[in-house]
Amino acid sequence: GTGPTSAAGPGGHHHGAGTAPVAAPGTTVADPVSVRDLVGDRSRSPDVSYTLTVAQRPDGGYTVNGTSPGPVVEATQGDLVQVVLRNEDVAEGTTLHWHGMDVPNGEDGVAGVTQDAVPAGGEHVYRFVADEPGTYWYHSHQISHEQVVRGLLGAVVVHPAPSAEAPDADGPPTTDVLALLHTYAGVGRTVNGSTGDTPVPLAPGQPARVRLVNTDDGPTQIWVSGAAYRVLAVDGQDLNGPTPVQGRRVTLTAGARVDLEVEVPATGAARVQAPGVSLVLGPAGATAPTTPAPSEALDLLSYGTPADPGFDPARADRRFDYVISRRFGLLDGRPGLWWTINDHLFPDVPMFMVAEGDVVVMTMSNYSGEVHPMHLHGHHALVLSRDGVPSTGSPWWVDSLDVPDGQTYEIAFAADNPGIWMDHCHNLPHAREGLVTHLMYE
Ligand code: C2O
Ligand code: CU
Repeated sequence: GTGPTSAAGPGGHHHGAGTAPVAAPGTTVADPVSVRDLVGDRSRSPDVSYTLTVAQRPDGGYTVNGTSPGPVVEATQGDLVQVVLRNEDVAEGTTLHWHGMDVPNGEDGVAGVTQDAVPAGGEHVYRFVADEPGTYWYHSHQISHEQVVRGLLGAVVVHPAPSAEAPDADGPPTTDVLALLHTYAGVGRTVNGSTGDTPVPLAPGQPARVRLVNTDDGPTQIWVSGAAYRVLAVDGQDLNGPTPVQGRRVTLTAGARVDLEVEVPATGAARVQAPGVSLVLGPAGATAPTTPAPSEALDLLSYGTPADPGFDPARADRRFDYVISRRFGLLDGRPGLWWTINDHLFPDVPMFMVAEGDVVVMTMSNYSGEVHPMHLHGHHALVLSRDGVPSTGSPWWVDSLDVPDGQTYEIAFAADNPGIWMDHCHNLPHAREGLVTHLMYE
């Protein structure tokens, strides 16, 4: 998996691959649910099917079906999706994790936790229903601090089911624009694999939904020149009542996604920028201004209009602290300066035990000197407060959240997806340095 590795193989700690904990001889335990049973529907044929063949390049990079990023996995809400992963020649083995998608646990693609890594020449079939429309991505979860960084990744887009309502008669339908950001060694920052400016030919007045995916280990700033924008969604979850924004940047957490609505101006073009790259939205040849990143950031804690999040975080069944710090010690026997969780070093970090149906409140604080993009698998969490200041905007749901040094976030989620789920830092070298634990259902 992502985490520190042991001699048992990458990610092979805590649990055998895909098995529940084993009772000591002579004792009995309640029959634990096996991850192997928590899988997608295999009784009918899939609505969409992909074969993704992963290969190693001589320079150490990885490709999926010959390119990096790999093909976009696209589905419509409600589709049963099948992805056949083929490992052509990746000697260390590989998997695919569906980042941000709340798939059944057995389809989560975490080597050493939900499956074994697929060996070179091997194959693994993933199946899940794409029930939440939104922007996601897939990546290897085997030795991820190397395989993801070197290109074993691609985007996932789940389109909303066609609505029964009459289409909006006021204007042209929105165009979908994907912008997967990744930094390759020796190449630098890219968008959909290209450096510099990427032209997106669109007519004046055309609205676009720009789906930005940050696949790097650190946060990036996003801003728009030549047009206002609205933040339609974060981490695949639509925001309620998003209002137009101008002259402010959005911080995109490592692993996170934002969908921005940008309308092509009547003259010229609009430029969606991240440091080093941009998308130029407009008629061919139209120019767009280039501006430096605005100093003022959009704060999602107060953006949009409040709405019912669907559960009451005040009735928490469980409360956990997730305190991130750093100290010298032994991690899997190796001496060094490692990250700690609640003052424990991996693998002696606490697991968070929940029961299906619980409302869980987690307080995440960071006293480690660096920002950590914390990622919870299999669930979306509602941001309740930051440093004691409650969220006053739209319900803001995340699967990837930057917890900066010195800050505390309180989040809540419904325990509605049984299994064993990683909860780790998505600065992937940090996960390898011990910033990883699990959420586990009793
Ligand atoms: Cu995107 Cu556990 O990872
Ligand atoms: Cu980190």
